[in-house]
Amino acid sequence: MRKPIVAGNWKMNGSRESVSELVSEIISVGTLPCDVFICPPSVFFDLVGSQIADSPMDMGAQNIDWRESGAYTGEISAAMVKQSGCRYALVGHSERRTLFHETDVEVAKKFKAALDVGMTPVLCLGETLQQRQSGDTEEVVSSQLKTVMQTLSVAEFGQGIVAYEPIWAIGTGETATPALASEVHGVIRGLLQDQAPVLGDEMRILYGGSVNASNAAGLFAEADIDGALVGGASLISEDFVAICRATGTN
Ligand code: PGA
Repeated sequence: MRKPIVAGNWKMNGSRESVSELVSEIISVGTLPCDVFICPPSVFFDLVGSQIADSPMDMGAQNIDWRESGAYTGEISAAMVKQSGCRYALVGHSERRTLFHETDVEVAKKFKAALDVGMTPVLCLGETLQQRQSGDTEEVVSSQLKTVMQTLSVAEFGQGIVAYEPIWAIGTGETATPALASEVHGVIRGLLQDQAPVLGDEMRILYGGSVNASNAAGLFAEADIDGALVGGASLISEDFVAICRATGTN
């Protein structure tokens, strides 16, 4: 049985005041029916970390560098974010791939760097609109997945989480329908299964891309969708909590 998980990716949003308010509102609702973590901008890790210390909610990094240390101005290592209280790290978010030119090979290194310090990497995969329209979704997603999977043992890769995030659905208000998302989740689960049955059975696959309080339950009703990676709606506490609660309706 895979426990659902919902993550909030706050991207480059918020101030000390707004972040603090958002965290208190979310934790004030108490226990939720899923694992929950939020990814604030890294300058707020200390603030958020101290606020969530006694709550069931965890924190994640939006990005990490794969190198241990050195002259890499502006970068933050996996060990640093772990030490600042993060239990999870997103790797390969499409905004990192598109705007900051991260390659599959770098994403694989980031996945491993997170594991090496004891964090759970969340590997983000997804196709562009053009790739979908040309019928290349399966090929794109498979190749992104395989590049990371083949650099690791089954036991290592199995400690992570996968997030399918079609790029055309991120921040656009256009969500993949449950059927469409489920189809790609099925492809991903099939590839995991081929690698090792334990991966297919146990790895959690999240959907991301304009998930909101109204469409979450429909997505979570699909057997292969184990939760969500939420951007915009995670900045509104009632919406984020409603999405988390929707995991418990199935
Ligand atoms: P969105 O972002 O929910 O605003 O579409 C999702 C994401 O980027 O992870």
